[in-house]
Amino acid sequence: MLQKINESASFLKSKITIQPKIGIVLGSGLGALVDEVDIMVEIPYKDIPNFPVSTVEGHRGSLIFGKLNGVEVMVMSGRFHYYEGYTMKEVTFPIRVMKAIGVEKLILSNAAGGMNPTFKIGDVMIIKDHINFFFDNPLMGKNYDELGPRFPSMNEVYSKKLVKLAHKIAEEHGIYVQQGVYLGVSGPCFETPAEYRAFYILGADTVGMSTVPEAIAAIHQGMEVFAMSVITDLGVIGVVEVASHEEVLAAAQKAGPKMVKIVSEMVTKM
Ligand code: HPA
Repeated sequence: MLQKINESASFLKSKITIQPKIGIVLGSGLGALVDEVDIMVEIPYKDIPNFPVSTVEGHRGSLIFGKLNGVEVMVMSGRFHYYEGYTMKEVTFPIRVMKAIGVEKLILSNAAGGMNPTFKIGDVMIIKDHINFFFDNPLMGKNYDELGPRFPSMNEVYSKKLVKLAHKIAEEHGIYVQQGVYLGVSGPCFETPAEYRAFYILGADTVGMSTVPEAIAAIHQGMEVFAMSVITDLGVIGVVEVASHEEVLAAAQKAGPKMVKIVSEMVTKM
Protein backbone atom coordinates (compact mmCIF):
# COMPACT_ATOMS: atom_id res chain seq x y z
CA MET A 1 0.00 0.00 0.00
CA LEU A 2 2.79 2.43 0.92
CA GLN A 3 4.42 1.87 -2.44
CA LYS A 4 1.16 2.52 -4.28
CA ILE A 5 0.57 5.74 -2.33
CA ASN A 6 4.08 6.95 -3.10
CA GLU A 7 3.77 6.01 -6.77
CA SER A 8 0.56 8.02 -7.16
CA ALA A 9 2.00 10.93 -5.16
CA SER A 10 5.20 11.03 -7.26
CA PHE A 11 3.17 10.95 -10.47
CA LEU A 12 1.03 13.87 -9.30
CA LYS A 13 3.99 15.86 -7.97
CA SER A 14 5.61 15.60 -11.38
CA LYS A 15 2.54 17.34 -12.87
CA ILE A 16 2.29 20.27 -10.48
CA THR A 17 4.26 23.31 -9.46
CA ILE A 18 2.21 24.22 -6.40
CA GLN A 19 2.33 22.78 -2.88
CA PRO A 20 -1.26 22.73 -1.58
CA LYS A 21 -1.77 22.33 2.17
CA ILE A 22 -5.57 22.13 1.84
CA GLY A 23 -7.52 19.30 0.24
CA ILE A 24 -11.20 19.51 -0.66
CA VAL A 25 -13.54 16.63 -1.52
CA LEU A 26 -16.67 17.62 -3.41
CA GLY A 27 -19.78 15.51 -2.93
CA SER A 28 -22.78 14.82 -5.17
CA GLY A 29 -24.07 17.96 -6.84
CA LEU A 30 -21.55 20.17 -5.05
CA GLY A 31 -19.19 20.47 -7.97
CA ALA A 32 -20.02 24.20 -8.28
CA LEU A 33 -17.01 25.00 -6.13
CA VAL A 34 -14.83 23.97 -9.05
CA ASP A 35 -16.06 27.04 -10.95
CA GLU A 36 -14.43 29.19 -8.27
CA VAL A 37 -11.09 27.46 -8.60
CA ASP A 38 -8.36 28.90 -10.78
CA ILE A 39 -7.50 25.55 -12.28
CA MET A 40 -3.81 24.96 -12.98
CA VAL A 41 -3.87 21.22 -13.59
CA GLU A 42 -6.78 18.82 -13.92
CA ILE A 43 -6.11 15.10 -14.04
CA PRO A 44 -8.89 12.55 -14.60
CA TYR A 45 -8.80 9.76 -12.01
CA LYS A 46 -8.42 7.24 -14.79
CA ASP A 47 -5.03 8.72 -15.69
CA ILE A 48 -3.60 8.50 -12.18
CA PRO A 49 -1.69 5.33 -11.38
CA ASN A 50 -3.42 3.19 -8.72
CA PHE A 51 -6.53 5.41 -8.56
CA PRO A 52 -9.95 3.74 -8.77
CA VAL A 53 -12.40 5.19 -11.32
CA SER A 54 -15.63 6.90 -10.31
CA THR A 55 -18.86 5.49 -11.72
CA VAL A 56 -21.61 7.75 -10.38
CA GLU A 57 -23.54 10.34 -12.32
CA GLY A 58 -23.00 13.88 -11.06
CA HIS A 59 -19.38 13.23 -10.29
CA ARG A 60 -16.71 14.69 -12.50
CA GLY A 61 -14.03 12.20 -11.56
CA SER A 62 -10.89 14.26 -11.58
CA LEU A 63 -8.24 15.71 -9.36
CA ILE A 64 -7.80 19.44 -9.65
CA PHE A 65 -4.85 21.55 -8.55
CA GLY A 66 -5.30 25.27 -8.45
CA LYS A 67 -6.08 28.34 -6.40
CA LEU A 68 -9.27 29.05 -4.53
CA ASN A 69 -9.49 32.67 -3.42
CA GLY A 70 -5.73 32.86 -3.98
CA VAL A 71 -5.01 29.81 -1.81
CA GLU A 72 -3.41 26.68 -3.27
CA VAL A 73 -5.77 23.73 -3.08
CA MET A 74 -6.08 20.16 -4.25
CA VAL A 75 -9.67 19.31 -5.10
CA MET A 76 -11.29 15.93 -5.63
CA SER A 77 -14.17 16.55 -7.99
CA GLY A 78 -16.10 13.37 -7.35
CA ARG A 79 -15.23 10.71 -4.82
CA PHE A 80 -15.22 6.94 -4.53
CA HIS A 81 -18.14 5.42 -2.66
CA TYR A 82 -18.28 2.17 -0.74
CA TYR A 83 -21.62 1.35 -2.44
CA GLU A 84 -19.91 1.33 -5.82
CA GLY A 85 -18.14 -1.79 -4.65
CA TYR A 86 -14.80 -0.25 -3.73
CA THR A 87 -13.13 -1.44 -0.56
CA MET A 88 -12.65 1.00 2.32
CA LYS A 89 -8.96 1.12 1.38
CA GLU A 90 -9.85 2.18 -2.17
CA VAL A 91 -12.39 4.74 -0.96
CA THR A 92 -9.73 6.37 1.22
CA PHE A 93 -6.75 5.92 -1.11
CA PRO A 94 -6.92 9.49 -2.49
CA ILE A 95 -6.82 10.85 1.08
CA ARG A 96 -3.62 8.88 1.65
CA VAL A 97 -2.19 10.36 -1.54
CA MET A 98 -3.21 13.88 -0.52
CA LYS A 99 -1.22 13.53 2.69
CA ALA A 100 1.77 12.10 0.80
CA ILE A 101 1.75 15.21 -1.39
CA GLY A 102 1.78 17.48 1.66
CA VAL A 103 -1.89 18.26 2.30
CA GLU A 104 -2.50 18.82 6.01
CA LYS A 105 -6.09 20.04 6.16
CA LEU A 106 -9.09 18.34 4.62
CA ILE A 107 -12.51 19.76 3.79
CA LEU A 108 -15.19 17.16 3.03
CA SER A 109 -18.65 17.79 1.65
CA ASN A 110 -21.63 15.59 1.03
CA ALA A 111 -25.33 15.42 0.24
CA ALA A 112 -27.31 13.92 3.10
CA GLY A 113 -30.78 13.11 4.33
CA GLY A 114 -31.92 15.12 7.34
CA MET A 115 -33.60 13.47 10.35
CA ASN A 116 -33.60 16.46 12.68
CA PRO A 117 -37.12 17.95 12.55
CA THR A 118 -35.76 21.50 12.48
CA PHE A 119 -33.93 20.81 9.19
CA LYS A 120 -35.20 21.79 5.77
CA ILE A 121 -34.21 20.69 2.29
CA GLY A 122 -31.43 22.98 1.08
CA ASP A 123 -30.02 23.61 4.57
CA VAL A 124 -26.30 23.33 5.14
CA MET A 125 -25.10 21.44 8.21
CA ILE A 126 -21.66 21.74 9.73
CA ILE A 127 -20.65 18.28 10.91
CA LYS A 128 -19.53 18.27 14.53
CA ASP A 129 -19.20 14.49 14.87
CA HIS A 130 -20.07 11.26 13.09
CA ILE A 131 -21.37 7.76 13.71
CA ASN A 132 -19.72 5.04 11.62
CA PHE A 133 -22.55 2.76 10.51
CA PHE A 134 -20.70 1.24 7.57
CA PHE A 135 -19.87 -1.87 9.60
CA ASP A 136 -16.44 -1.59 8.04
CA ASN A 137 -13.42 0.61 8.61
CA PRO A 138 -10.60 1.82 6.34
CA LEU A 139 -8.06 1.01 9.07
CA MET A 140 -8.88 -2.72 9.15
CA GLY A 141 -5.96 -5.05 8.53
CA LYS A 142 -2.26 -4.36 8.82
CA ASN A 143 -1.45 -0.96 10.25
CA TYR A 144 1.26 1.07 8.59
CA ASP A 145 2.94 3.00 11.41
CA GLU A 146 4.38 5.32 8.76
CA LEU A 147 0.82 6.50 8.10
CA GLY A 148 -0.56 6.59 11.62
CA PRO A 149 -1.21 4.70 14.86
CA ARG A 150 -2.97 1.34 15.22
CA PHE A 151 -5.63 2.75 17.55
CA PRO A 152 -6.18 6.40 16.64
CA SER A 153 -8.37 8.53 18.88
CA MET A 154 -11.64 9.71 17.32
CA ASN A 155 -12.29 12.15 20.12
CA GLU A 156 -12.20 15.20 17.87
CA VAL A 157 -12.50 14.12 14.25
CA TYR A 158 -13.98 17.45 13.15
CA SER A 159 -11.72 20.26 14.29
CA LYS A 160 -13.53 22.46 16.80
CA LYS A 161 -11.40 25.36 15.62
CA LEU A 162 -12.58 24.93 12.02
CA VAL A 163 -16.21 24.45 13.10
CA LYS A 164 -15.99 27.76 14.93
CA LEU A 165 -14.40 29.46 11.93
CA ALA A 166 -17.14 28.16 9.62
CA HIS A 167 -19.85 29.48 11.93
CA LYS A 168 -18.17 32.87 12.05
CA ILE A 169 -17.95 33.09 8.25
CA ALA A 170 -21.55 31.91 7.82
CA GLU A 171 -22.74 34.53 10.29
CA GLU A 172 -20.78 37.30 8.58
CA HIS A 173 -22.45 36.43 5.28
CA GLY A 174 -25.91 35.94 6.73
CA ILE A 175 -25.90 32.27 5.80
CA TYR A 176 -28.09 30.16 8.06
CA VAL A 177 -26.28 26.96 9.03
CA GLN A 178 -27.23 23.93 11.06
CA GLN A 179 -24.79 21.87 13.10
CA GLY A 180 -25.00 18.22 13.98
CA VAL A 181 -23.99 14.59 13.80
CA TYR A 182 -23.64 12.74 10.47
CA LEU A 183 -24.26 9.02 10.33
CA GLY A 184 -22.52 7.16 7.52
CA VAL A 185 -24.12 4.11 5.90
CA SER A 186 -22.99 1.94 3.01
CA GLY A 187 -26.06 2.63 0.86
CA PRO A 188 -26.94 2.39 -1.98
CA CYS A 189 -30.53 2.18 -0.66
CA PHE A 190 -31.99 5.28 0.87
CA GLU A 191 -33.35 4.58 4.34
CA THR A 192 -36.70 3.12 5.31
CA PRO A 193 -38.83 5.32 7.62
CA ALA A 194 -37.88 2.97 10.47
CA GLU A 195 -34.19 3.41 9.71
CA TYR A 196 -34.38 7.23 9.61
CA ARG A 197 -36.22 7.10 12.93
CA ALA A 198 -33.70 4.68 14.44
CA PHE A 199 -30.74 6.84 13.35
CA TYR A 200 -32.33 9.97 14.81
CA ILE A 201 -32.94 8.19 18.12
CA LEU A 202 -29.30 7.08 18.01
CA GLY A 203 -28.22 10.73 17.95
CA ALA A 204 -27.67 11.47 14.27
CA ASP A 205 -29.03 14.56 12.50
CA THR A 206 -28.11 13.57 8.95
CA VAL A 207 -27.42 10.31 7.13
CA GLY A 208 -25.34 9.79 4.02
CA MET A 209 -23.15 7.35 2.13
CA SER A 210 -19.71 8.94 2.34
CA THR A 211 -17.38 11.17 4.38
CA VAL A 212 -16.91 8.87 7.40
CA PRO A 213 -14.25 6.64 5.77
CA GLU A 214 -12.30 9.64 4.46
CA ALA A 215 -12.48 11.42 7.81
CA ILE A 216 -11.21 8.32 9.61
CA ALA A 217 -8.25 7.91 7.23
CA ALA A 218 -7.44 11.61 7.50
CA ILE A 219 -7.46 11.56 11.31
CA HIS A 220 -5.38 8.38 11.26
CA GLN A 221 -2.65 10.27 9.43
CA GLY A 222 -2.89 13.38 11.58
CA MET A 223 -4.79 15.72 9.26
CA GLU A 224 -7.15 18.43 10.43
CA VAL A 225 -10.70 17.76 9.19
CA PHE A 226 -13.75 19.89 8.46
CA ALA A 227 -16.97 18.61 6.87
CA MET A 228 -20.34 19.89 5.76
CA SER A 229 -23.62 18.29 4.63
CA VAL A 230 -26.17 19.76 2.29
CA ILE A 231 -29.62 18.45 3.25
CA THR A 232 -31.17 17.08 0.08
CA ASP A 233 -34.12 15.11 1.48
CA LEU A 234 -35.86 14.56 4.79
CA GLY A 235 -36.28 11.47 6.91
CA VAL A 236 -38.05 13.27 9.70
CA ILE A 237 -40.39 11.12 11.79
CA GLY A 238 -43.82 11.32 10.16
CA VAL A 239 -42.57 13.27 7.10
CA VAL A 240 -40.25 11.20 5.02
CA GLU A 241 -39.69 13.20 1.85
CA VAL A 242 -38.32 10.54 -0.36
CA ALA A 243 -35.74 11.47 -2.91
CA SER A 244 -34.57 10.04 -6.16
CA HIS A 245 -30.90 10.42 -7.03
CA GLU A 246 -31.89 13.20 -9.46
CA GLU A 247 -33.73 15.08 -6.70
CA VAL A 248 -30.74 14.75 -4.40
CA LEU A 249 -28.49 16.24 -7.10
CA ALA A 250 -30.95 19.06 -7.82
CA ALA A 251 -31.29 19.98 -4.12
CA ALA A 252 -27.52 19.89 -3.66
CA GLN A 253 -27.01 22.14 -6.67
CA LYS A 254 -29.47 24.65 -5.27
CA ALA A 255 -27.84 24.75 -1.85
CA GLY A 256 -24.34 24.65 -3.33
CA PRO A 257 -23.68 28.41 -3.34
CA LYS A 258 -23.95 28.57 0.47
CA MET A 259 -21.36 25.89 0.86
CA VAL A 260 -19.15 27.43 -1.81
CA LYS A 261 -19.22 30.79 -0.01
CA ILE A 262 -18.23 29.26 3.33
CA VAL A 263 -15.49 27.01 1.94
CA SER A 264 -13.93 29.61 -0.32
CA GLU A 265 -13.53 31.98 2.58
CA MET A 266 -12.45 29.28 5.01
CA VAL A 267 -9.41 28.35 2.95
CA THR A 268 -7.99 31.85 3.40
CA LYS A 269 -8.29 31.66 7.18
CA MET A 270 -7.47 28.11 8.19
N1 HPA B 1 -29.78 8.76 2.93
C1 HPA B 1 -28.54 8.36 2.61
N2 HPA B 1 -27.74 9.04 1.80
C2 HPA B 1 -28.21 10.17 1.27
C3 HPA B 1 -29.50 10.63 1.56
C4 HPA B 1 -30.33 9.89 2.43
O1 HPA B 1 -31.47 10.22 2.73
N3 HPA B 1 -29.65 11.79 0.87
C5 HPA B 1 -28.51 12.02 0.20
N4 HPA B 1 -27.63 11.04 0.44
